[in-house]
Amino acid sequence: MSEYVVDESTIFETPLLELDLDIESDADVYAKAEWFNLYDAPHGGGSIKSRIAKGMLDGAEERGDLDPGVTVIEPTSGNTGSEVARLANARGYDVEIVMPDNAAGGKIDAVRDAGAEIHFVDANLGYDAVIERCEEIIAEDPDAYYRPNQYENPDNPGTHERTTAREIYEATDGEVTHFVAGVGTGGTITGTGRGLTDLTDGAAEIVASSRTSSSTPSTASNTSSRATTTTLTRTTSRSSTGRSTLRPRTRTTERGRSASAT
Ligand SMILES: Cc1ncc(COP(=O)(O)O)c(C=O)c1O
Repeated sequence: MSEYVVDESTIFETPLLELDLDIESDADVYAKAEWFNLYDAPHGGGSIKSRIAKGMLDGAEERGDLDPGVTVIEPTSGNTGSEVARLANARGYDVEIVMPDNAAGGKIDAVRDAGAEIHFVDANLGYDAVIERCEEIIAEDPDAYYRPNQYENPDNPGTHERTTAREIYEATDGEVTHFVAGVGTGGTITGTGRGLTDLTDGAAEIVASSRTSSSTPSTASNTSSRATTTTLTRTTSRSSTGRSTLRPRTRTTERGRSASAT
């Protein structure tokens, strides 16, 4: 393990960087520099997943779901693993991460460096096998584990709704017109989309750009895949929770790369 000490105060409030794009448009285009989350962490620093690792662990602790002595476990092929491992380990929990065995070396090093035990799963079996292996481990001793579960945890989109959306709205003085994000779990686009839609009263257009592939992670990076661009538009009615409802319009085009890891 490295000497790195996790400083959660470096999570959130990342800068917007103006991009100098060679495009015919009057639009000002910005990128949100998510690598400023845990920017001094080894193996490439943190990422947008630092946000949800914090959000999911904070939520679990506040609800009393995360007893001291419990082991935090998460299946992940990418950045969520290192961020859950870093934060949970720093909070005193044991951590186990279930990963496909073709995960990028830097991500494996980051998880290992954070003090987590890694369970590797043959990537040729597909990502479902990673999730199934995690479920098997938990089933052996359910009381010993807490799984944040980024795919189903409302604190994933909820964190983006509370933080990412507000940060973008404030940094653009409320003049944001479009928000574009890639999709893994969908937490970023759903939560930030929901927040920006509410903050701009529906004026901001929310655009999800996802790359999909039916192949396993091991081959996905080398095969062509389809990119789906989904525009989420707010319906006129509001849901029973008072939140705006986002309705997707989807168009799919051929692209050359694969889905990003989560
Ligand atoms: C660095 C990074 N950015 C964005 C995403 C997509 O985020 P989300 O899972 O919220 O859709 C992922 C995961 O897929 C990721 O690892």
